Amino acid sequence: MALPRALILIVLATALFSTTSSAKEFIVGDEHGWTILFDYQAWASGKLFHVGDKLIFKYRTGENNVFQVNGTDFNNCTVPAASQGLTTGNDVIVLDTPGRKWYLCGVANRCQNGQRLFIDVLPSQAQAPSLSPLSSVLPITLSPSPSPSPSSSPLRAKHPWQLTRKLVALFQH
Ligand SMILES: *[C@@H]1O[C@H](CO)[C@@H](O)[C@H](O)[C@H]1NC(C)=O
Ligand SMILES: *[C@@H]1O[C@H](CO)[C@@H](O)[C@H](O)[C@H]1NC(C)=O
Repeated sequence: MALPRALILIVLATALFSTTSSAKEFIVGDEHGWTILFDYQAWASGKLFHVGDKLIFKYRTGENNVFQVNGTDFNNCTVPAASQGLTTGNDVIVLDTPGRKWYLCGVANRCQNGQRLFIDVLPSQAQAPSLSPLSSVLPITLSPSPSPSPSSSPLRAKHPWQLTRKLVALFQH
């Protein structure tokens, strides 16, 4: 059975695309945005936040801002004097470490009125298992170019199991 090389490359490209788009963007509060009298813990519950995902705080500038604080300051609605808050009205925070993160609005009593959020960030989803099982089932070379460096190969991509699944489906036809 000789599978057309182009077909294999299309499958690889599809798999690569589906893995590189796995980082999520969360608009905090969805259509409500970042405001008072909204239950941000209810909003966060059931959502899975991973390293690499983004939080986007949308609000009217001047009337709101965003501070990342620690748990103590969160509980007390204390705005850290030393730290500079975010103020653009469209603040994008990349979740770069796992663990609990706390955010609040530092304007007037808005934190006390519910404008605060904590989330638990899970490790990155982009941790790849080894590709060797895949290479051993394929009757062709996986390299689309003559001599790819290991770091530039698309097969270093994050979820080779997806690749495996697609290729297995292909072979079953
Ligand atoms: C938290 O707030 C309470 C009451 O306002 C205050 O007594 C306490 O010192 C604060 N704690 C911290 C760590 O800021
Ligand atoms: C929390 O942050 C404040 C500064 O805003 C700092 O004074 C305090 O020691 C921190 N608390 C902990 C438990 O890290």
